[in-house]
Amino acid sequence: MKKTFHITTFGCQMNEHDSETLAGLLLEKGYERTEARKDANIVIFNTCSIRENADKRFFGTLGQLKKKKMEQGENFTVCVCGCMMQQQHIIDTLKTKYPWVDVIFGTHNLHELPVLLDHLYEEKEKQLSIWPEGGDIVEGLPADRLFRHKAFVNIMYGCNNFCTYCIVPYTRGRERSRKPEEIIGEVERLVKDGVREIMLLGQNVNSYMGTCQDGSQMDFSDLIYRLNEIDGLARIRFMTSHPKDLSDKLIQAYVDCEKLCNYIHLPVQAGASQVLKRMNRRYSRESYLALVKKLREAAPEITISTDIIVGFPGETEEQFEETLTLAKEVRYDSAFTFLYSIRKGTPAEKFENQIPETVKHQRFNRLVEVINGISAEKNQAYVGRIETVLVDGPGKTGGRMYGGRTEGFKLVNFPGTSAMIGKLVKVRITASNTFSLVGEVVE
Ligand code: SAH
Ligand code: SF4
Ligand code: F3S
Repeated sequence: MKKTFHITTFGCQMNEHDSETLAGLLLEKGYERTEARKDANIVIFNTCSIRENADKRFFGTLGQLKKKKMEQGENFTVCVCGCMMQQQHIIDTLKTKYPWVDVIFGTHNLHELPVLLDHLYEEKEKQLSIWPEGGDIVEGLPADRLFRHKAFVNIMYGCNNFCTYCIVPYTRGRERSRKPEEIIGEVERLVKDGVREIMLLGQNVNSYMGTCQDGSQMDFSDLIYRLNEIDGLARIRFMTSHPKDLSDKLIQAYVDCEKLCNYIHLPVQAGASQVLKRMNRRYSRESYLALVKKLREAAPEITISTDIIVGFPGETEEQFEETLTLAKEVRYDSAFTFLYSIRKGTPAEKFENQIPETVKHQRFNRLVEVINGISAEKNQAYVGRIETVLVDGPGKTGGRMYGGRTEGFKLVNFPGTSAMIGKLVKVRITASNTFSLVGEVVE
């Protein structure tokens, strides 16, 4: 029987990229990809554990497959992987409540999937393989990219920061940087393959430290300067950078490197220094604001987005108001806002004064109102301007509308043609919304 697969991805870009790798591995082995999950005889769930509702969504979706698995048995394979699998309590739940899952693997051994499937089919035995820690970085894995013209490039894995609310250091292990030559080689190959824009990925790209073949070291800004020299590459972005490690050298890179997009995602998490301290973020409100000022002095056109958590344990009304005033002071182009979610095994799980759900929701709504108001005003200021847009493809609304991103990462929708996909076009902005812009191609 023809083996077809479908991957459902939860979580961040890191996971999106891991799914591209999984697809690449399976295609190399002769498996075929299907667009709809219902048509696949191998389904893979790449999970995220960042907040409780991510866990819940996964278990909900997984539960829906039980009937199909019971009916089809060996002809239907269910694989689960990703950040949830790096936690023992999740594995225990799977074993007791979802014993019909066929293959379980983790974040450090993606490359094992084809072998695990071989074992499953040959030995007719369920496969469980979790590596507790990331070993040496496995290089040379294929990827079936989401887009032809833009690509994710991992520059490092893991996180050493242990923010007190966060599960990632436990699911992704310690920081490991890829060798500069590996990254540069990969980007050069991608550009030959038609890629115009790269998104460099890491939980904290600012602490990248790569050791070259000759033993010399390259930090994150050195890497940007080097990638900026690659002919044919048009845009460089990165995600995510931790404010505590953002160097003056990186700020200078915004001035010197024409390919580095004038955009930064700079998660602040909270506006009150005392909350930041309890979060173990290792910067203060004042130092964050000073950083934003420096970035804007160096690159006046820079757009800034952020992540904010409301209702962290012990957050008082006054401290929450400091988040509101910080948002107003920075005037973010956009912000992802989250209700604090207790994560098992993190320090904040044990913190006193957990905030009641109703208070969290009220604060969340107040913050979103402020954030959205600012986003709408910021977008309004783009009307009449001409922006360079890298065209991604047809928009969600269908018809003749196409979508793409400006250098500042703003989504623009405009009447277009399929010939424009992957091209940089000039678009005059004619209208604005809270989360996107509307325009018309001028060239
Ligand atoms: N490494 C990135 C963040 C990755 S997680 C960084 O440090 O910037 C993405 C976002 O999820 C975080 O920035 C944070 O805002 C949010 N987040 C993480 N853990 C959370 C939790 N327990 N509850 C609510 N939001 C959380
Ligand atoms: Fe989580 Fe903090 Fe690491 Fe980001 S820097 S992944 S928020 S521990
Ligand atoms: Fe989620 Fe893991 Fe990313 S927990 S946010 S998928 S690193």
